[in-house]
Amino acid sequence: MAVAAAHPAATDAGIAIMAAGGNAFDAAVAVSAVLAVVEPYSSGIGGGGFWLLHQAGNGRDLMIDGRERAPLAAHRDLYLDASGELIVGASLNGPLAAGIPGEPAALVHIAEHYGRLPLAKSLAPAIRLAREGFPVDEIYRRMAAWRLQVLRASPAAAAQFLDDGEVPELGTIIRQPDLALVLEAIAAQGRAGFYAGPIAKALVDGVRAAGGIWTLDDLSSYQVIERAPIVGRYQDWEIVSAAPPSSGGVALVQMLGMLEALEARLGPASSDADRVHRLVEVMRRAYRDRALYLGDPDQVEVPVERLTHPFYAAGLARGIDPTQASPSLPLATESEGPDTTHFSVLDAEGNRVSATLSINYPFGSGFVPPATGVLLNDEMDDFSAQPGVPNAYGLVGGEANAIAPGKRMLSSMSPTFATSDEAVVILGTPGGSRIITMVLHGILAAIEGGDPQDWVAAPRFHHQYLPDEILFEADALQAATQRELVDRGHRLRPAANDFGNMQLVVWDRAGGRVEAASDPRGIGKAAVRVRPSSAGAP
Ligand code: DON
Repeated sequence: MAVAAAHPAATDAGIAIMAAGGNAFDAAVAVSAVLAVVEPYSSGIGGGGFWLLHQAGNGRDLMIDGRERAPLAAHRDLYLDASGELIVGASLNGPLAAGIPGEPAALVHIAEHYGRLPLAKSLAPAIRLAREGFPVDEIYRRMAAWRLQVLRASPAAAAQFLDDGEVPELGTIIRQPDLALVLEAIAAQGRAGFYAGPIAKALVDGVRAAGGIWTLDDLSSYQVIERAPIVGRYQDWEIVSAAPPSSGGVALVQMLGMLEALEARLGPASSDADRVHRLVEVMRRAYRDRALYLGDPDQVEVPVERLTHPFYAAGLARGIDPTQASPSLPLATESEGPDTTHFSVLDAEGNRVSATLSINYPFGSGFVPPATGVLLNDEMDDFSAQPGVPNAYGLVGGEANAIAPGKRMLSSMSPTFATSDEAVVILGTPGGSRIITMVLHGILAAIEGGDPQDWVAAPRFHHQYLPDEILFEADALQAATQRELVDRGHRLRPAANDFGNMQLVVWDRAGGRVEAASDPRGIGKAAVRVRPSSAGAP
């Protein structure tokens, strides 16, 4: 059994739950809930996510869609003022920025339908950490400093996450007794513990008193959706990844399809610059389609079959000039901060979970409804607030991702399985719009082989159609490669900070070995345990 997660307490909880007889799905509940407590800047029960599951018994893959949705009173012009201008920050800060949370419902659903242990047992580590507290680390401090003004504006958030209105010192113990009570209510009553009764009322009252638009109806009508994942092939590998309302699976399958078509047409890349050029050109095309076609499949028609068909990828690839960068015409752009979280789990029976969870920006909306302990997301910013026009964060999108009542906002979160006859790789990462290209790099590295720690540590580069530039981490592109890319017409931009926090588990079926790796950019932990009873199994 193995877990890789963005915080050691979460990894330890996942391993402990499996050691106590739980399966990978129980472990996923425990890991998600602990991350909600100890990484409040990344995900939480005030947010949502996608949990990709594989059941070893019947070979079934499915995606639990616990994505937030727009409140029923939301409308396409929610963040525009009377003159049609975007109100800066309205979709990011405070309760108007919060979608209806999906994570509590998703955890209850996973435990009830796929777990083996009672929910109370899987939630116990998180409840204990909420009550007893956890020590502030460097990442916590960095994220809290980033969102200091917003957290200060919410008295309940400031009391929970700050120390006298300031960023807490390293090692300060963060106790969240109100959050412990909400987790206990969920453990005892299932979804009713959050979406109905006194907690639902406190959430709605708190949101409305501070200018939000939630209603009790929004909470009681929230539904988790089981979706078929997106499936594609690359060489001898099957790629299983997130379906809409994530754009991740579609874009990954498109990019891999284009790469394969380019290899068939041109043969293998002839140089490092050639390799990067091809990757950038396939990224550019996938992100263009993302902006044009992707949205909540329950509210807009998303042409998934066409977009993920190998013929379509081949067609797109035919437009790639092997020596010249294509232009990106005005359309869509997105940039997001370094929060959100991912974990990967494999149990001794071969069940697996790849989950990416979010409250969007660091510390989400920064708003905690009084007496709830629940930090609300600001996932509403993932909608295009004004279709066709950049919002406050440079985000542009089409009709497909316009705000509508009850609609799920488009995501880039891409929890993924890559499998061949020899190996199973479980991977994903946070990183906003860069998630999808990071997962692409991860898949390609895994297919190359070698040490999994190198796959998660490798320096990364990214292109997302617009802005029309290659964003790259230090060391991602050698000087000669950079020169040749510029000669081919590419614009380069060194990233100010590292990006991503990849958590990966690999089961080498041929060699009978399990390994796990946690991105050195974060503070996460990867752990593998072998159970004596599991001879032959992972
Ligand atoms: O769902 C999404 O695509 C975003 N809300 C994810 C945000 C994220 O990864 C920010 N972290 N770097």
